[in-house]
Amino acid sequence: MLTGKTALITGGSSGIGLATAIRLHAEGARVAITGTDGAKLESARAKVGGNTIAIQADVRRLHEIEAMAARVAEAFGRLDILFANAGVAYGTPIATTRDEAFDRLMDVNVKGVFFTVQSVLPIFNDGGAIILNTSWLGQIGTPGRAALSASKAAVRSFTRVLAAELTNRRIRVNAVSPGPIETPMHRTPGQTEAEFRAYADSVGLKVPAGRMGRPEDVAAAVAFLAGDDATYLLGAEINVDGGLAEI
Ligand SMILES: NC(=O)c1ccc[n+]([C@@H]2O[C@H](COP(=O)([O-])OP(=O)(O)OC[C@H]3O[C@@H](n4cnc5c(N)ncnc54)[C@H](OP(=O)(O)O)[C@@H]3O)[C@@H](O)[C@H]2O)c1
Repeated sequence: MLTGKTALITGGSSGIGLATAIRLHAEGARVAITGTDGAKLESARAKVGGNTIAIQADVRRLHEIEAMAARVAEAFGRLDILFANAGVAYGTPIATTRDEAFDRLMDVNVKGVFFTVQSVLPIFNDGGAIILNTSWLGQIGTPGRAALSASKAAVRSFTRVLAAELTNRRIRVNAVSPGPIETPMHRTPGQTEAEFRAYADSVGLKVPAGRMGRPEDVAAAVAFLAGDDATYLLGAEINVDGGLAEI
């Protein structure tokens, strides 16, 4: 249980972040969620319920990240748990990708994570838990995914380095590495539910566990890493990918 803890979840307005917000709230934490889309955030805040706060902040912009941390400080005072989860995913084929697409991916997935961690450290309690969100794509070579895979490999490296750097404050930094998870990230505009299910089933056939993952599968691993049962895990990455990266 996370009773009395405070948690910030970037990208908490959708998918894995939203499921994690619901899970941590259910375990007794006070939760702040972020995203860039105000309407999505408000709808997510209502789903999580309780005294959840929603903060509109783009992780590509340092001043917005700093304002986010200030808002958390104002609402909660101190922070015990950070899930740096906000991210984007799209292909960047080597032959056709322009620098704008490359930069956006790195700005959100890499720079955004680094400065999110930096911004909350002054309000973070010693002994707290930081969880970063990597991906199975950081461990496997998949055609057309060079920038996305490299961005997640960078976050895997942050996990080790920041874990080492923050031991003096007993802040544990670990990562979850999701496989293909059924979130809005996998949906295309205008797609019917039947079309999405057919897509999800076809992806599931490539996963040893036989299905796509659910956001709740990842949320459970984040809740474990956030809690006292994980105090001997440092710099680790838990694969929540149905065996995809290992088998
Ligand atoms: N789904 C998968 O198969 C999968 C697999 C491996 C790893 N992951 C990782 O899991 C994380 C969450 O993805 P998801 O699948 O849950 O996708 P999702 O449903 O699309 O959620 C992404 C979240 O990130 C937020 N976000 C995106 N850009 C942002 C920015 N510039 N600043 C602040 N927030 C931003 C979005 O909010 P707005 O839309 O309001 O900006 C949303 O809340 C990502 O880091 C992703 O790489 C996902």
